[in-house]
Amino acid sequence: MISQDILVVGGGLAGLAAALSCDPNLKVAVVSKVHPLRSHSVAAQGGINAALGNSPDGRDDSWERHAFDTIKGSDYLADQDIAELMCQKAVSAIYELEYLGVPFSRFPGGVIAQRPFGGAGFPRTCYAADRTGLVILHTLFEQSIRKQVKFFNEWLVTKLIVKDGKCLGVVVYDLATGQIVPVRARAVIFTTGGYGRVYSRTTNAYINHGSGIGIAYKAGVPLRDMEFVQFHPTSLFGKNILITEGARGEGGYLVNNKGKRFLEDYAPSAMELAPRDIVARSIQTEIDKGNGFDNQYIHLDLRHIGEEKIKKRLPGIREICINFAAIDPVDTPIPIQPAQHYSMGGIDVNAKCASLVEGFFAAGECACVGVHGANRLGGNSLLDTVVFGKISGEEASIYVKGSEETNNSEKFLLEEALEVKARIEEWEKRSSGVRVHRLLEELKVVMSENVGIFRKKKDLTEALEKISELKEDYKRVYLYGKCLRYSQELVNILEFDSMLDLAEVITLGALKREETRGSHYRLDFKERNDENWLKHTLVTCKEGKPQISYSGVNISKYKPEERKY
Ligand code: FUM
Repeated sequence: MISQDILVVGGGLAGLAAALSCDPNLKVAVVSKVHPLRSHSVAAQGGINAALGNSPDGRDDSWERHAFDTIKGSDYLADQDIAELMCQKAVSAIYELEYLGVPFSRFPGGVIAQRPFGGAGFPRTCYAADRTGLVILHTLFEQSIRKQVKFFNEWLVTKLIVKDGKCLGVVVYDLATGQIVPVRARAVIFTTGGYGRVYSRTTNAYINHGSGIGIAYKAGVPLRDMEFVQFHPTSLFGKNILITEGARGEGGYLVNNKGKRFLEDYAPSAMELAPRDIVARSIQTEIDKGNGFDNQYIHLDLRHIGEEKIKKRLPGIREICINFAAIDPVDTPIPIQPAQHYSMGGIDVNAKCASLVEGFFAAGECACVGVHGANRLGGNSLLDTVVFGKISGEEASIYVKGSEETNNSEKFLLEEALEVKARIEEWEKRSSGVRVHRLLEELKVVMSENVGIFRKKKDLTEALEKISELKEDYKRVYLYGKCLRYSQELVNILEFDSMLDLAEVITLGALKREETRGSHYRLDFKERNDENWLKHTLVTCKEGKPQISYSGVNISKYKPEERKY
C-alpha cells in the first residue's frame, strides 16, 4: 500500500505552498485531480495583497491597516486575531515569492508594483500584469520539482479515512487506470479549492466541484460559515470568465444604460472600488431595475485608460474579450454581470490549519480559518493560500514528528477502499436510472436562482426541498459508460454526492441566518444584527443529516461598526 508521512490533496497554490513547507525529512506527496498547472489558482488574475507601501499613494500603509480593511470588509465576521496573523505575514510572504522567482510587475525604479483593489485603504495589491495566479503557480511548481516533491496526478480523492477521531489516509480514484486505491498517511492536508460549479454562473473552472469540502464533511469534520458565497461583480457576460477587479483598480468605470457611473448611488466614496459584496449587489440591482443592457448586463468601460496601459497592465483581459466576446476593450466597453467566485466558508480549522480530526489539516479556499468572514477582499485569497498553505505544511510536520503511527491501519483502509469499489460497482451494474449530468444541471439552476446574491425565506426553503428531491434521485443514478478509465461521468457521480451536501449546508446556513451581513443579503432581514448574529455557523454531518451550531467571533481590537464606503 502507498504510504506517506504527509499527503497533500490538491496541487494549486495552497497545496504547493504546503508541500514546500513540510519538513524535508518526511515522506511527502501531493495528490491532484488534474495536473497541478491546471489547478484553478492559475486563473487568479488581479493580484495578492501585502502592505509593502511601494506605491506613491501607499507610503502610509501598514499590516495593521491591511488587517483593519480585511476585518471591515468581512462585515466584522472575520476572527480578528487570524486576520492580523495573515496580514502580518503578508509582507514576508511576498518577498519569499519574489526570492523564489515570481516575476512581479515593477514600478519604475524596480520595486514590486501595487495597484488599488476594492475595500483597501491603499494600493496594496502586488501583481504580475493580470496573470498573477499563473506566475505564482508556475514558480511554486518549479520549486516543487526542484525539491523533488512526489506528485500523483489525475487522482481524485473519494473518501477521507478517519478512525477513532484520527485521520489514517484517503481512498482515491486513479483516473488513468480506473483503479480505486487506498493511501495511508499519518497526516492529510486538504487544499482542494472551492465549489463554484454548484452554481450555474461562476468564474470557477469545471474542476471546482468542491468535493474535498464535502468529503471532509462526510467524515465528520464541521464546515464553517458556508452561507457566505462571494459573487464577483465583473464576469464576462454569458461566459462568466473572470474580468479582474484589477481592471477597476486601473481606473475602469461601471456604467449603466443611462451612461451613469451608478456606484455613486451605492458607495459614493469608494465608487467602483467598494468591496465585492457591495459592488455585485449594486450591479444586480441596476440590472433588476431595468438599467442594464438587454436587462442582463452592464458595462465595464476601460476606454479612457488608454491603449498603452490596457496592453501593459491588462493584456489577459484584452485577450479574453477579443477571443470570447469579439470586442477590444481599447475601443468598446466590456459587457459584464456578477457570477459566483469564491467561498468564504469551508472546512473548519484553527490558526494552525488543524481540524477537529487529529492529523487532518486544511488550507486555502476549501478551508475556513476565519480571515474572510462574510466577505473576502480581492487580493486576499492568493495571500491566504500562500500564508496558510505554508502554515499547514509546517504544522502537519510538527504533528507527524510528535505522534505515534497507528497500528493496523492498512486493514481498515483496504476495507474502506472496498466500500468505494462496491458503490461504483452498483452504479456500473445498473442499466437504467438517472444520469448524473441532469441532476447536476438542476442543482446549479436552483442554487443560482434561489441561493444567489439576494435571498429570502421562501426561495431558500424551496431550494432545500429541491435539494432533498435531488438526494432521492441520486440514489437511482447509474453509469452509462462502463469503462472506468478517465470516466468523467464517474468523476461527476462521485463528486455529486458532495455537491448535494454542500448545497444543503449553504442553503440551510442561509435560511437560519436571519440578517444581512457581507455577501449574505436577506431581502426579508435587510439589516446586520450583531446582537443575535455576530457568530460563526458550524454545520456537522451526523448520521447523514446536517446539524447546526454556532461559535463566537474573535473581536480583539475593532468594534463592529456600520460599513460605509
Ligand atoms: O478580480 C480578481 O482579479 C480576483 C481576485 C481575487 O479573487 O482575489
